[in-house]
Amino acid sequence: MDGNGRWARKRGMPREYGHSVGARVFKAVSTYCQDRGVEYVTTYALSTENLKNRSRQELNAIFLLLKEYIKDALVTAPKRNTRVKFPGDRSAFSPELIEMMDEVEEKTSGYKYLLNIAVNYGGRDEIVRAVNRLIAGGYKSVTEDDITSALDTGNCPPPDMIIRTGCELRLSNFMLWQAAYSEFYFTDTLWPDFGEKDVDAAIEEYSRRQRRFGSA
Ligand code: FPP
Repeated sequence: MDGNGRWARKRGMPREYGHSVGARVFKAVSTYCQDRGVEYVTTYALSTENLKNRSRQELNAIFLLLKEYIKDALVTAPKRNTRVKFPGDRSAFSPELIEMMDEVEEKTSGYKYLLNIAVNYGGRDEIVRAVNRLIAGGYKSVTEDDITSALDTGNCPPPDMIIRTGCELRLSNFMLWQAAYSEFYFTDTLWPDFGEKDVDAAIEEYSRRQRRFGSA
């Protein structure tokens, strides 16, 4: 969801305002993705690096938006047949936020469409936690499948396409393991300006890609 801060600054507003519009846009865009038949959507809401390097004020605003999102999802997600999950290391969050995340995950666990909201998420950290889980479970050596299913995202297939907004051409520690064969889509559009026509354009582009998974 890159570009929230720049979008707000351009309007003479604080970065936090960009995040609040960004959260609203995520709700609209994820709903539209489902309308287009996309069953798995993951957003990178807060990286492990963001948590270390953003101001307390900005982080508090993001935590507040997460709580608002969860309160709303408890009502709206079941109506939209939607499961909400929070990949990432939530141990750094307040007990209140952890409890809210647990509650919405549990109450929506049976629904079809998955929305992953990655928070305090880092691809490297996720792999390390997965391997440690396996070691704690008694594994002496591991296979690719073992790691895949021990990841926070063990519940969903790897992303077909990764969209990055806001002119940034990097992966920034997002889904390092899962992205092995993902298609990449970069756009200059700042996240708060991202909308249905941008989803359509990304899907259109995806349909033109040839996925070979190493074949000739
Ligand atoms: C990236 O833009 C965005 C973030 C680091 C935070 C995004 C978090 C939210 C929108 C709130 C919670 C999300 C949901 C779905 C409830 P940036 O700050 O790096 O912007 P910039 O690239 O313009 O500086």
